[in-house]
Amino acid sequence: MKTEILTVLKEAPGFVSGQELCGRLGVSRTAVWKVIKQLEEEGYQIEAVRNKGYRLAEAADVITEAEIGSRLRSKWMGRHLVYFPETDSTNIQAKRLGEEGAPEGTLVVAERQTAGKGRRGRTWSSPAGTSIYMSFLLRPNIPPRCAPMVTLIAGLAGAKAVNQVTGLNARIKWPNDLVVNGKKICGILTEMSAEMEGIHYIVTGIGINVNQKEFPEEIRDKATSLLLEGGRCFNRSQLIAGVMEWFEPYVERFLETKDLSLLKEDYEEMLANLNQEVQVLDPAGEYHGVCQGIDKDGQLLVERGDGSLSRVQSGEVSVRGIYGYV
Ligand code: BTN
Repeated sequence: MKTEILTVLKEAPGFVSGQELCGRLGVSRTAVWKVIKQLEEEGYQIEAVRNKGYRLAEAADVITEAEIGSRLRSKWMGRHLVYFPETDSTNIQAKRLGEEGAPEGTLVVAERQTAGKGRRGRTWSSPAGTSIYMSFLLRPNIPPRCAPMVTLIAGLAGAKAVNQVTGLNARIKWPNDLVVNGKKICGILTEMSAEMEGIHYIVTGIGINVNQKEFPEEIRDKATSLLLEGGRCFNRSQLIAGVMEWFEPYVERFLETKDLSLLKEDYEEMLANLNQEVQVLDPAGEYHGVCQGIDKDGQLLVERGDGSLSRVQSGEVSVRGIYGYV
């Protein structure tokens, strides 16, 4: 009911009477009043005026189940939503839910993580108030070797959502990061539970730096936030809903072919590395080349000095720009 009341208040141009809310939701005035109080406790400013009703004063940057739910327009992604004010890691929670049989598209969001995980066993700093920590669960009928492609699709959806909501020009640094003006704003970590025959589930976790005003000295040249690049605060729930809405049709298209052939063009349009000179840190030997895009399996195509084309598999090697992070 909280989501419905929030949606009605958001969509209304002015005050909505208590009577109208009761009528539309088929509940008592006391029930409506209780929900209004709960929303206020969650950080919403709601004006209550006698003979007029209720009006949402301003769009606060709160992330709660009701807030995300009231913005979500997807069919199945994020429709089962689990929110934690604090948890160890949304990836850990999504995997737990995966084991317990949670439905496809389940979305886990946290305000704060106490054991946020980055790639290659690193930690992901996860304080409250300014970032997005979200993970979602998929049960795709694809061979385990195709799972890393989900990271690329999440990156594409993330970039599209960020650009739509903020007006910034976020791009993908293959395979896992999103960058704005050459600095990282988002990291993605995909984990899976599988056997030889197939995948039980995939969990993809996304961390986005949204409203941080500063970063520690040692990462200031590599990391940034949407606020620092855009000059204003952005609503985290709107971004979370945006990622879900972009991801859903993309993953549906991916499942038609079980590869990225239908998404390659969209992906390359957002690829920060495209036509850039990159350094491939392959344990078998580092090399330089020019990025020519991706193939249908999501491998990065790098043209080397001698004209040969190398295919870089995500997860195996790091790719760096020659002149900076990208
Ligand atoms: C990276 O760039 O190293 C990947 C970072 C992924 C961080 C996100 S935050 C939400 C989800 N939960 C985690 O513990 N990690 C991912």
